[in-house]
Amino acid sequence: MRLLVTGATGFVGSRLVPALLEAGHEVYALTRDATGYEGPDEARVVEGNVLDPETYKSALAEVDAAYYLIHSMGSGTDFAERDRRAAHNFVRATEGTDLDRMIYLGGLGEEQERLSKHLQSRREVESILAEGTYDLTTLRAAIVIGAGSQSFEMIRQLTDRLPVMITPKWVRTECQPIAISDVVTYLVGVLDVSETAGETFEIGGPEVLSYQVMLERTGEILDRRLFVLPVPVLSPKISAYWVDLVTDVPKSVAHPLILGLENRVVVEDHRIEQLLAFERTPFDLAVKQALGTEHEPPIEHIAARAQSEAEQATAGAERAKAGPERTESEPERAESGSERAEPDVGPGSEPEPRPGR
Ligand SMILES: NC(=O)c1ccc[n+]([C@@H]2O[C@H](COP(=O)([O-])OP(=O)(O)OC[C@H]3O[C@@H](n4cnc5c(N)ncnc54)[C@H](OP(=O)(O)O)[C@@H]3O)[C@@H](O)[C@H]2O)c1
Repeated sequence: MRLLVTGATGFVGSRLVPALLEAGHEVYALTRDATGYEGPDEARVVEGNVLDPETYKSALAEVDAAYYLIHSMGSGTDFAERDRRAAHNFVRATEGTDLDRMIYLGGLGEEQERLSKHLQSRREVESILAEGTYDLTTLRAAIVIGAGSQSFEMIRQLTDRLPVMITPKWVRTECQPIAISDVVTYLVGVLDVSETAGETFEIGGPEVLSYQVMLERTGEILDRRLFVLPVPVLSPKISAYWVDLVTDVPKSVAHPLILGLENRVVVEDHRIEQLLAFERTPFDLAVKQALGTEHEPPIEHIAARAQSEAEQATAGAERAKAGPERTESEPERAESGSERAEPDVGPGSEPEPRPGR
């Protein structure tokens, strides 16, 4: 397939582009500065700004599907307004094209809760993207663990630099972090599973952890003894200021993320785990991979895993369409998912070079 990846230079996009190429797709990589693009040579670089449709309209006209991996948190306090405009412009630019699918990586969070400004904005972008004539697939995720993830970088730097942390109550909020290699597997996999078209899914790693436990376990991996003292009087706003003092994550990114930590971000809808049923990366291993003490699974394995999962999901759907009759040797996918053999990318696999080319 021909694909446009927006946010191709970002934490997620820069890993997705080589995986899509590896899976045999043709990839157009969108960035605002083509001269700074360091991705694979096989990708066709498109210089464009989502706020200005004229810069990428012709690329959109040539592709079958697009990935929307953009946020504007780094641009300042008006990020929600910019992200709203960017999404509207992107949808408008798809009008009159043959674009069939769009895939968006958004944010987890319970809708009945008062979502933070950042999570509300991610949800708003989701509903704007859903207005297009293509089928939108949304994957909602909490913190993605990997080298270069701003949200993980806050955890790493706090753990590394502060032996004693006096924190607000949010430190006990539950979260379901996910490794970047698992996110990329889902992003590549859903493209080939037609049942995911027009659907919203929640994705997460295998463990639900409080932020306190995430900090403590990251501390153990970094060999730091950590004392976390939650106190009721400290507001998230104040804690955002001490995060500024301790970490070098830009304020414009750190503040919206910290204000979002009050929201519980846990997978409630597990349908995607039946469709793409691979073994997800445990938190400790994901952290070690992010820190570089364990290697991330190689891109070829991630692409192969996504494709083999997608093939099995499609075969399962075809069997289901064909009728309810099943033999013992054709178990339903939902029952067999966790027992299937899959490419060897798990904790015991040999370390290989980092992804990328
Ligand atoms: N990281 C996480 O923990 C996490 C968790 C849940 C969901 N997500 C979602 O995953 C997606 C990608 O996040 P990320 O962590 O990869 O972000 P990131 O590393 O900060 O990258 C953001 C990307 O957006 C692009 N961009 C920003 N404004 C743009 C504009 N006006 N025109 C064109 N491109 C623009 C940047 O490209 P250039 O600067 O090259 O133009 C950059 O590649 C987002 O939708 C985010 O909400 C991330």
